Amino acid sequence: MRKKIIIGNWKMNKDYKTAISFVEKLSKDENVNKLDMGIASPFIWLKDLQQIAKNKIIISAQNCYYEKDGAYTGEISVEMLKNINISYIIIGHSERREIFGETDELINQKNKKILESGLISVVCCGETLKQYEKNETKKIIEKQIEQAYKGIKKELVKKSIIAYEPIWAIGTGKTATPLIAQNICSFIREKIKKLYDKETSEQIRIQYGGSVNDQNSKEILSQNDIDGALVGGASLEIEKFTKLIKNSI
Ligand code: PGA
Repeated sequence: MRKKIIIGNWKMNKDYKTAISFVEKLSKDENVNKLDMGIASPFIWLKDLQQIAKNKIIISAQNCYYEKDGAYTGEISVEMLKNINISYIIIGHSERREIFGETDELINQKNKKILESGLISVVCCGETLKQYEKNETKKIIEKQIEQAYKGIKKELVKKSIIAYEPIWAIGTGKTATPLIAQNICSFIREKIKKLYDKETSEQIRIQYGGSVNDQNSKEILSQNDIDGALVGGASLEIEKFTKLIKNSI
């Protein structure tokens, strides 16, 4: 059985005080042992949040760079994150791809580095509205997955997490129907089976992301191939997020 995993992606939101109090409350949530839950914070608060969370909840980074160290102004390495006990790192979010021009090749290098360092990557993939309307979703997702896991050994892949996030559903209030989301998540699992094997495809966890909220989370998470959610807007307020978690169980 794959354990459900819900991660709130704060993006570039929150100040120090509200971030701390959020994590204090979430670490004490009544459902904390029922599934894997946590948040992805801006780099700057990670160390303090990790100390408060004491591994009761996940404190994830939202990005990283794949080089160990060196002249990469403004970047944060996987080693640096490991150094402060961060184990989860989101990569390939559509905002990073679209706003910061991240390519499939770069995401592959990050993924390789994270998994080879013994950490857990949350690899985002998803199609644009135009691609969705042109019925190109599977073609796009297939390419993104193939590229993200290129050259990565089977033993490392089962720890990784894939987040299917249709871009047209992110922050728009338009959620993919549970059926659409299930269909693509099952396609992703099949793809992992083709690239690796059945065992790996049954172990890897696949999240859905895109306008998940406390009203729709249960139906989305009850789909066979959906093992959790990556939540943006609905993870910014503790009450909303804990309600979403409660409603998902
Ligand atoms: P949203 O964002 O829940 O606000 O749509 C999801 C995401 O970008 O991970």
